[in-house]
Amino acid sequence: MDNRKTVLITGGAGFLGSHLCDRFIGEGFRVIAMDNLITGDLRNLEHLFKLPQFEFYHHDVSKFVHIPGDLDYILHFASPASPIDYLKIPIQTLKVGSLGTHNLLGLARAKKARLLIASTSEVYGDPTVHPQTEEYYGNVNTVGPRGVYDEAKRFQEAITMAYHTFHGLETRIVRIFNTYGPRMRLNDGRVLPAFIGQALRGEDLTVFGDGSQTRSFCYVDDLVEGIYRLLFSDYSGPVNIGNPSEITIREFADEIIKLTGTKQKVVYQPLPKDDPKQRQPDISKAKKILGWEPRVGRAEGLRLTYDYFKSLPRDLLFAREHKDFKPYNR
Ligand SMILES: NC(=O)c1ccc[n+]([C@@H]2O[C@H](COP(=O)([O-])OP(=O)(O)OC[C@H]3O[C@@H](n4cnc5c(N)ncnc54)[C@H](O)[C@@H]3O)[C@@H](O)[C@H]2O)c1
Repeated sequence: MDNRKTVLITGGAGFLGSHLCDRFIGEGFRVIAMDNLITGDLRNLEHLFKLPQFEFYHHDVSKFVHIPGDLDYILHFASPASPIDYLKIPIQTLKVGSLGTHNLLGLARAKKARLLIASTSEVYGDPTVHPQTEEYYGNVNTVGPRGVYDEAKRFQEAITMAYHTFHGLETRIVRIFNTYGPRMRLNDGRVLPAFIGQALRGEDLTVFGDGSQTRSFCYVDDLVEGIYRLLFSDYSGPVNIGNPSEITIREFADEIIKLTGTKQKVVYQPLPKDDPKQRQPDISKAKKILGWEPRVGRAEGLRLTYDYFKSLPRDLLFAREHKDFKPYNR
């Protein structure tokens, strides 16, 4: 008999979801990945299909979700995550954060499973407090272009907390700050793949605004470790997971130029509306409650990520997905 615990990972074919599938398989779980492939890619999971303890369901979680048999944990990671994606599919983004989360809360209740939701630093909007602690309520423009994502995630947190307090459901909330690593899509509009893609294609690197806005980037293995620890902790409040090491976009472009050895230069374009000027997590809570802090420095993480992008087929490098959309330096 198989005594493995079962975990459902929504958004399993995406960047973070696929790394979580790897981690839980590695830890001896039975893993069910669920994804409608709207921004994900089955190639991220191809290596797992041969395993008997892995299953894939092609399904939209904004519709009713059913899983036969026992379920111990649910990680809800399904959602478009890059501005280029959620600006293109705003209604689906709102639905997966609201209806999708509601469906999974119902499933968790029926199965007596613990649910962890992927929230985001975007709940802080364009923050007026720096760095951002979990106690900060945020500064979000509900009707701005990014509102569809930010408000979906804020609602997701609210309904999750309501199920926790009203129904006593076991829930966890991770607020993820910018994360990078292998399996990001080259053309998803996020700053790191955008810069590396431009360098690999021999194009100039585009900085939006004057490049003085800051970001902090967490390597995917560090994030997965933080999520793993949070799931098995007994803390139900939101927890920031991210790397506090902050860098301006301009400096970041220079690091990518050095890493890739490109001869191209930086070019500037106007800053999009509601682009956050600063983003840096306060991770005191994760340190205290989970004993977690990031271990992979930017130099090492960038090298691992660059190796991945270099290994991609050339047609992917030159695929001009979303070519009409202006990316953010996210
Ligand atoms: N990557 C980051 O830096 C970051 C930061 C903050 C929060 N997050 C959150 O983490 C999660 C994963 O992000 P990612 O970077 O891996 O993005 P991603 O686009 O690579 O993965 C998202 C996955 O969800 C799937 N999906 C979307 N809507 C769905 C639906 N209705 N039903 C089923 N599947 C659906 C997509 O096909 C995709 O495979 C998201 O919830 C995102 O909001 C990510």
